[in-house]
Amino acid sequence: MDGPGCTAVIGLQWGDEGKGKLVDLLSHEHDVVVRYNGGANAGHTVVVGGERFALHLVPSGILAGGVKTVIGNGVVVDPARLLEEIGALASRGVDVDGRLWVSDRAHVVLDYHKSEDGLREELLRTGLAGERVGVGTSQEIGTTLRGIGPCYADKVTRATGVRMGDLLRPDVLRRKVELACRLKRALFEGLASSAHVDWDRFDADEVVRVALERGERLRGMITDTVYLLHESLGSGARVLFEGANATLLDVDHGTYPFVTSSNSSVLGIGPGTGVPGHRVGRVVGVLKAYSTRVGGGPMPTELEDATGERIRERGREYGTTTGRPRRVGWLDLVALRYACMINGVTELAVMLLDVLAGFETLRVCTGYRVGGRVTDRFVPDAADLGRVEPVYEDLPGFGEEITSVTTREGLPEGAASYLEKIEGFLGVPVRVVSVGPDRSQTIRVSSDGGAS
Ligand code: GDP
Ligand code: IMO
Ligand code: MG
Repeated sequence: MDGPGCTAVIGLQWGDEGKGKLVDLLSHEHDVVVRYNGGANAGHTVVVGGERFALHLVPSGILAGGVKTVIGNGVVVDPARLLEEIGALASRGVDVDGRLWVSDRAHVVLDYHKSEDGLREELLRTGLAGERVGVGTSQEIGTTLRGIGPCYADKVTRATGVRMGDLLRPDVLRRKVELACRLKRALFEGLASSAHVDWDRFDADEVVRVALERGERLRGMITDTVYLLHESLGSGARVLFEGANATLLDVDHGTYPFVTSSNSSVLGIGPGTGVPGHRVGRVVGVLKAYSTRVGGGPMPTELEDATGERIRERGREYGTTTGRPRRVGWLDLVALRYACMINGVTELAVMLLDVLAGFETLRVCTGYRVGGRVTDRFVPDAADLGRVEPVYEDLPGFGEEITSVTTREGLPEGAASYLEKIEGFLGVPVRVVSVGPDRSQTIRVSSDGGAS
C-alpha cells in the first residue's frame, strides 16, 4: 500500500514557519501524527479558540481528538521535558493516555548533554584558553541549549548512546552512562569554559538513578514504533509526518555548520521512523511570508533596520523555545526553490501573510549576486552563503488588514499577486494561506483554485 493518505509537513526556511498550526489543522484528516527528527529544540505553537499551546516534543497532532501520536526513533527525547509537557497538557484537559507512543530506539537527552551543549557553545565563543575572540570571528552556533548536538553525537559515536528502551534495562543503561561520564569528564575537565559546570550532571550514579525514575514513569508509552507504524499503515491509517526544525537547518542540506544535528528536511522521514519515504505522497511545504532565523549563520535577505523591526513586532517574532528575538528578512525565493527541490514539495502553505499588511512595497529575493555574476542557485555552505548579495524584485504591498479574510478571492490585490509570484517562481501551488495564529484564521484553496 503506497500512501496517498500519507502526508509530510515540512518547514522550508530556518524554522518557525507555522508548522504547528498546519499540523494541527491537517491532523483532523489523519489517524496518526509522527515526529521523526529533532527534539525539544522545536517549539510549535498552536492556537485553538484563543487558547495557546506550545509543544516541543509531543507531536502537534495531540490537540486533535482521536488522533494517535508517535515520537519516532529519529527524535532525541529529553524525558524530563517530555514528562513536563505531558503534565502541562493534562492540566489543560488534553489526555495523552493511549494516544502517545515513544520509540524504544529514540535516543535519550541526559542532563550532561545539556551541560555539554553549553560548554561547546562557550568554547566556540571564547576559544580554548577562555580568551575573548575578535568580534565577528565567533564560531558560536547559537543553539537552543537543549542538548541536541551532543545527544546525536553520542548516537553516531555508538557506545555511549542511550536509547529510550535502555531506561527500562538498568544494566545496559549503567554500562553506557558510566562510559559516557568517564569520557566526557576527561574531555572537558581543565577547559577554561568548564569553570561553571555542574559536575554532578556527569556523576554516573546520579544520572542512572534519575534516568531510571523517569523511564519508569514513561514505561507504558515506550514501544517498537516501527512495527506500530507499519501495522497502522497496513490497516489503512493515514499518517502525517510532522517535521521539526526545517530544511535550511538540515545537517546535510542546510546552511552547515549553522544547522541542527538531524535531517530536518523530508529526507529524515525514512531513517527517523522506519517507514520508507516513498510512502509519502503529499508533501506540504510550509513557509512564512518573509524570512526569519534564530541563532547564528547567514541569512542573505536579513533586515537590520526599522522595516525588520516592524515585521518582528507585527509577527511577534520571539522564539517559542528560547524567547530570543528572531532575525527577520524579506522572502528568499532562491532558498525556497532549493527547499522545494530537496523535499519534493507538492503543495505550499503560506503562513503569517497578515504580518505584511501595511507595507507599501514588498521585496522578494529572486537571485544572488556572487562575484559580479547573478545566479538563481542556492549555496547552502554557510561560508559561501555569507558572501552572496541578494537581488530583489519589488512588488506592490497591501494596506488593509487581512486577518478576517476567509477566501483567496477576498484577499486584496497586493496579497493575491504576492501569492502568485511565489507560486510562479516555485512552480508549486498554494493550498493554504494563513492570516492569523488561530485555527480559524486559515484560507484553504482547493485544486481548482476555489476556497474549500
Ligand atoms: P513552528 O515552529 O513552525 O511550529 O512555528 P512557531 O510556532 O515556532 O512560530 C510560528 C508563530 O506564528 C507562532 O507564534 C504561531 O502562533 C504564529 N502564527 C502561525 N500562523 C500565523 C499567521 O498566519 N499569522 C500570524 N500573525 N501568526 C501566525
Ligand atoms: P521549530 O521546529 C528555529 C536552530 C537554533 C540554532 C540551530 C542549532 O520550532 O521550527 P540546536 O539546538 O538544534 O542544536 O540549534 O538550529 N533551531 C531552530 N530555529 N526553529 C526551530 O525549530 C529550531 N530548531 C533548531 O536556533 O540556530
Ligand atoms: Mg518553532
